[in-house]
Amino acid sequence: MSVRLTSASEFGRVAVLMGGVAAEREVSLKSGRAVLAALLGRGVDAAGLDVGANLVEPLLRSDYDRVFNIIHGRGGEDGVLQGALEALGIPYTGSGVLASALAMDKLRTKLCWLGAGLPTPGWMLLESLDDLERCAEALGFPLIVKPANEGSSIGMSRAESLEELRRSFELASQFDCQVFAEKWITGKEYTAAVLDDIPLPLIRLETPHAFYDFDAKYRADTTRYHCPCGLDGEAEATLHALARKACHCVGVEGWGRVDLLVDGENRPWLIEVNTVPGMTDHSLVPMAARQSGMDFEELVWRVLETSFLRERK
Ligand SMILES: Nc1ncnc2c1ncn2[C@@H]1O[C@H](COP(=O)(O)OP(=O)(O)O)[C@@H](O)[C@H]1O
Ligand SMILES: [Mg+2]
Repeated sequence: MSVRLTSASEFGRVAVLMGGVAAEREVSLKSGRAVLAALLGRGVDAAGLDVGANLVEPLLRSDYDRVFNIIHGRGGEDGVLQGALEALGIPYTGSGVLASALAMDKLRTKLCWLGAGLPTPGWMLLESLDDLERCAEALGFPLIVKPANEGSSIGMSRAESLEELRRSFELASQFDCQVFAEKWITGKEYTAAVLDDIPLPLIRLETPHAFYDFDAKYRADTTRYHCPCGLDGEAEATLHALARKACHCVGVEGWGRVDLLVDGENRPWLIEVNTVPGMTDHSLVPMAARQSGMDFEELVWRVLETSFLRERK
């Protein structure tokens, strides 16, 4: 059920929440500034709030009618802020408490997908050094080791041997969350932005790095983004359908971005879903929107409209 508005005043006073305290704070500030400029450009009565650890206090200082949430990572993307906004009765963009919390946890997201019969690479929870040998036997190499609740490829690495697995495990263990190893998928990487339940054109990501790591995401000029992604219509439609199912399964609302890999035998694998994707003018969702004929300001407007979804329910 989509809600389309024609007049900026119908949004009322909008707080663009950005910053937060997660590792992705700087990315969020960049996204937030771009979102704020776009809203102001479209005549929306918006103010930017750079929040730190206290997410709620800045909201209480003024009367806001709704929130555009662009805080990435813990605190902003994981259901905590969403719960606070529910309690305050302030409508907000994107997913609710449950989907936000689930999607932030890559392990539990995979459990949902597995339970629903959706394809996600095999994995094993790593709780101590004692688990490593068993993991190598069960899954084989190469593997990718991840902290379950981080973003931006932070703390992730590829392991091709038991020794590398130990190093990867130690690296991922520095973050205050569960760690898991996942079967490495060799193939092509795609990302599917979904706006109000409609998938936008897929983007294929290509990097000379071992994977789409922090450097490839934000610094390197060697990362290539293909949009259109090069798949024929039918193959793209298949991945679109899978991305929508992946979102429905986790309960994602409003907007999100699903990361997928397609292996050498053309089998798709779901990797993760982001409920507050990056929104700088060179982020992936804006790139996909542009390909569908939607400029950045229109995209930001459409995401803000998603704040009416739960309000209407
Ligand atoms: N199972 C896998 N096999 C191969 N590469 C992977 C796998 N899982 C993740 N990657 C690579 O690591 C990147 C980051 O992983 P992802 O789970 O999307 O975490 P983040 O939240 O940091 O984006 C992906 O974009 C992809 O390049
Ligand atoms: Mg990702």
